[in-house]
Amino acid sequence: MKRILITGGAGFLGSHLCEKLHNGKNEIICLDNYYSSSKQNIIHLLQNPRFELLRHDITFPIYIEVDEIYNLACPASPVHYQRDPVQTSKTIVHGAINMLGLAKRVGAKIFQASTSEVYGDPLIHPQTENYWGNVNPVGIRSCYDEGKRCAETLFFDYQLQHNLDIKVARIFNTYGPGMHPNDGRVVSNFIVQAIKGKDITIYGDGSQTRSFCYVDDLVNVIIKFMKTEKGFTGPMNIGNPNEFTMLELAELTLELTNSKSKIIHQTLPEDDPKQRQPDISLAKEKLNWEPKIQLRDGLERTIKYFQSL
Ligand SMILES: NC(=O)c1ccc[n+]([C@@H]2O[C@H](COP(=O)([O-])OP(=O)(O)OC[C@H]3O[C@@H](n4cnc5c(N)ncnc54)[C@H](O)[C@@H]3O)[C@@H](O)[C@H]2O)c1
Repeated sequence: MKRILITGGAGFLGSHLCEKLHNGKNEIICLDNYYSSSKQNIIHLLQNPRFELLRHDITFPIYIEVDEIYNLACPASPVHYQRDPVQTSKTIVHGAINMLGLAKRVGAKIFQASTSEVYGDPLIHPQTENYWGNVNPVGIRSCYDEGKRCAETLFFDYQLQHNLDIKVARIFNTYGPGMHPNDGRVVSNFIVQAIKGKDITIYGDGSQTRSFCYVDDLVNVIIKFMKTEKGFTGPMNIGNPNEFTMLELAELTLELTNSKSKIIHQTLPEDDPKQRQPDISLAKEKLNWEPKIQLRDGLERTIKYFQSL
């Protein structure tokens, strides 16, 4: 039996990870301050004695005995992370320092949820892990992008200096049941607008692209990554390399929801990346992993979830 700490465990990805790792064998400590989530996502796990909920802000140190740490705590959607950018940087950077300090103290293996945002508005396509990125250090997205870059640096320095067993994954856009309906991410936005019969808002002309990974595929690869030998650290891209324009996503959402909503266009937000597509060769080669659930199937499952809310 392992004792596993999942920071941000009540959030979208964290709650799926709690569910998957909580398999009767492990003891799960789900840590969250509910900044961008609620207990609702994990309430069904609470009756299990091997599942524990801890209200804590990772910008403050914590002392507990654990074997593994999955560090996911951080608001991920622009609406949430731009609401209090100073707190966002603190959560990412102080949070990383506190979690790495804990891992060092107790000898735990530690996973970091990094992001494709470390590539900024990329000048190479698709993005490989050795690309250093094209990031604005002083824009509205910087608290998140630069915060996550600094966290990666901290992880690798702790490994170098203290021989920590680290795993750093760069997660690309992920969607699925459990997403916050008002978090402003494109998949949840389009589905909620389509279900409510409201206009579907596309920023810019809709030709910008993203690659969308269904949450089950992503959680599976995170767990696989964590099982690799010490020294296999990443950074490793994880996501679905199939690329869609925002216009294609909007049209597919309209089709699957049978919605009569109209597509309208709004001004593109500052520093919005034009294209994103992970090169997942490393994950394929090392973990023998690639996503199984394609967009149409994943969207149908996600639409059902939003309809049920
Ligand atoms: N979902 C994606 O597409 C995506 C893409 C790239 C990276 N990521 C990364 O994965 C992680 C999880 O993302 P998500 O989509 O589940 O986001 P989310 O906002 O749903 O979950 C984040 C969780 O962290 C908690 N949190 C925030 N600040 C905290 C703090 N100071 N102390 C304790 N808890 C705190 C929130 O309350 C929330 O439960 C994040 O680190 C994010 O950067 C996600």
